[in-house]
Amino acid sequence: MTIPEHIKPIPSSSVGVGLKPAHYRDALSPIGARDGAGDRIFEFDFFEVHAENYMCDGGPPHAWLHAIRERYQLSIHGVCLSLGGIDNLDKDHLRRLREVLDRFEPALVSEHIAWCAHGGVFYNDLLAPPLTQTALARTAEHIDQTQNALGRRILIENPSSYLKLPSEMSEPEFMNALAHKTGCGLLLDINNVYVSACNLKFNATEYLDAIDATLVDEIHLAGHALDTNMGVEIRVDDHGSPVCEDVGALYRYFIQNAGARPTLVEWDTDTPPLETLALEAAKASNWMKVAQEKTGSSRQSAKLENA
Ligand SMILES: [Fe+2]
Repeated sequence: MTIPEHIKPIPSSSVGVGLKPAHYRDALSPIGARDGAGDRIFEFDFFEVHAENYMCDGGPPHAWLHAIRERYQLSIHGVCLSLGGIDNLDKDHLRRLREVLDRFEPALVSEHIAWCAHGGVFYNDLLAPPLTQTALARTAEHIDQTQNALGRRILIENPSSYLKLPSEMSEPEFMNALAHKTGCGLLLDINNVYVSACNLKFNATEYLDAIDATLVDEIHLAGHALDTNMGVEIRVDDHGSPVCEDVGALYRYFIQNAGARPTLVEWDTDTPPLETLALEAAKASNWMKVAQEKTGSSRQSAKLENA
């Protein structure tokens, strides 16, 4: 199952940002995101929106997104399906998601492996599942149901974690196995890897090495907050600040080894103006170029060594 043939894929070196209603006008304006000298800061390649914000019958959100879709490719990112939960998937939610996809024809569709509902109670959070065979089987079943209901392949996103849960495998093994079992792809959120690695004390580089890079079709970058809880320092995936240099270093490491992937900068708390997001996108784009140049130069020296 792939994307419908008439939808153009997003090129691998593309960089986009999460789009909020506050940005609609600037995203469409020829004035758009410009710096003090009047130069355009960054030409966005695509935008990502949260599916749930467009699960309505019409009105301004649809009108704006249709206008944006005419100019840009789209990624639609779901946050409420609860793929990693035990409860059955909500069939109405799946139907509404299908309607959003049919209406806006995004090149990328993604959801979290996190869970956010249990026993009919909805939690306003994305909670990491235990990494067990039971959770793997249940999540794979949910991904199969989702892909069948949507008629297309989805990408699944790794969570950010705050607690060590019972596990029978590593998270990369869990993610790779889900993709191999269901045919879905991976949305690798490198900020989530970093946040989890700091909170649970594992090596983020080893995590990236263990991910099957051939399955990764999109990357997320975002900012996070540093907090202290009962004397313990934790990193909170709040998407409310610029992407930090440590996450940038991991991103460059992954791209250098795996090649470029469509990259999306998320910013969901204290939404800044589009200019700020354009600066973040330009930063990510430069990181991508630096990583690609390093790949190129190491290939070049390998060629010289073998000559
Ligand atoms: Fe993300």
